[in-house]
Amino acid sequence: MRAIHLINGPNLNRLGTREPAIYGHETLADIENDCRALCEKNGLGLVTRQSNVEGELVTFLQQAVDEGAVGVIINAGAYTHTSIALYDAIRSMDVPVIETHLSNTHARESFRHHSAIAPAVTGVIMGFGSQSYRLAVLAICERMGTR
Ligand code: DQA
Repeated sequence: MRAIHLINGPNLNRLGTREPAIYGHETLADIENDCRALCEKNGLGLVTRQSNVEGELVTFLQQAVDEGAVGVIINAGAYTHTSIALYDAIRSMDVPVIETHLSNTHARESFRHHSAIAPAVTGVIMGFGSQSYRLAVLAICERMGTR
């Protein structure tokens, strides 16, 4: 089955209890389940992966290519702001890659205003809480014409 790959980076395994005033009360499992249901409505599967380790996120991106992902949604957490390795990995991909954040990083500390990966991605969705992920699923479906 054709699938979207949803990749989450450091500390996102703590959603639900991590700074809920910023990130909300939904857990990562809640978000993944919602996204899976939305993918299924659109005839797609969803592969979910999370790691706190930068190099593992690079591997997940490479696996997405090797496994024929139709699109990738990535919330790289704090590595968004620093990771040339993620930038390089995304540059070499030819499927849509959506950079996604729960919070509006531009409305927060200045060190969050820069994204190292933004120049490599197809588009960025941020600031809508857990809805950011669902909007990213819909963006990929629209581009594929499955919606
Ligand atoms: C985040 C924003 C990042 O700045 C932060 O380091 C995160 C979460 C978000 O989803 O809003 O871990 O990516």
